[in-house]
Amino acid sequence: MTSPDLPAELKAALDGKLRGFSRNDAAGRAASISKTYRDGGGSGAIRSETDALAYALARMPATYAAVTASLNALVEVRPDFAPKNLLDVGAGPGTATWAAAEAFPSLRDFSLLDANEALRTLALDLARDSTRLHGIGYERGEARATLTKAGTTDLVVASYMIGEIGDAEQRALAELMWEKTRDTLLVIEPGTPAGYARIIALRERLIALGAHIAAPCPHDGKCPLQTPDWCHFTQRLQRSRAHKQIKGAELPFEDERFVYVALTRTAVENRPARILAAPQVTKVAVVTKLCTVDGLTLENTPHRDRDAYRQARKRRWGGTAD
Ligand SMILES: C[S@@+](CC[C@H](N)C(=O)[O-])C[C@H]1O[C@@H](n2cnc3c(N)ncnc32)[C@H](O)[C@@H]1O
Repeated sequence: MTSPDLPAELKAALDGKLRGFSRNDAAGRAASISKTYRDGGGSGAIRSETDALAYALARMPATYAAVTASLNALVEVRPDFAPKNLLDVGAGPGTATWAAAEAFPSLRDFSLLDANEALRTLALDLARDSTRLHGIGYERGEARATLTKAGTTDLVVASYMIGEIGDAEQRALAELMWEKTRDTLLVIEPGTPAGYARIIALRERLIALGAHIAAPCPHDGKCPLQTPDWCHFTQRLQRSRAHKQIKGAELPFEDERFVYVALTRTAVENRPARILAAPQVTKVAVVTKLCTVDGLTLENTPHRDRDAYRQARKRRWGGTAD
């Protein structure tokens, strides 16, 4: 399992960038960019070098943790998957590329694309001294136009990206990303009902085009959750001193809520049930909300089944259960 915390090389590169900047300025810009996101805006507010750095310091640790958790889930279900090349769509500061490089030592070739020049410049700066990523190719351009010209890639990732484009554009982009996927497409969104709805729409569309689900769902059928129920996961990450300062936060950690889907060209056999919430543990029983091949279930593991109870106590939200 890859750690959800930023790798040392990336931390050092971010700290190096921060040296020439006022932390107060960066904190001010981070607060303003976060407000734009909360108000439904996107990355359009990121225009300058300070904006890009403020965004990366405030958000990159959390989106990195979410991508890593999704990749860990994919690796658990497909331990033999060894992609050679990666395409990171809406790559921003390169978050998903860094996470994929950690998760897959097999990756040799990294292609990134994004419309935002300030984020592209930052990504190239951060990767410059990296042993794995110094040679990345990063194209600036609108996703669909740029993707049309791209070849197929083993692993395609779009992290916290599709929410920034309209519904019709999302559908077209999903199909195009799938067309460019040789093996696996991973799409990650914020863990909100709206993020879940986007993932479900993309999931249904691509299954109709022949995709199979590797994770988190143990089946390719319709999602069994009924509104207002919805699915998301959470990943805890440590906050560095700079991260706390930029966010004006006290706690040494934060919990990132996210939702994801990993779609593959070939069906994955024997997909395990997915744990959809933190199990309720009492002295009497462990109750686990599971998504299984047969649909949704609340599994009750009584204390009297000593071994099963002990195992069930170890379950974690987002993990798998046999
Ligand atoms: C919230 S950021 C996420 C960045 C990065 N993937 C991450 O996880 O940290 C969304 C990114 O998508 C890019 N983006 C949004 N719409 C785009 C489009 N139509 N074409 C290319 N990039 C786009 C933005 O410029 C921004 O870098």
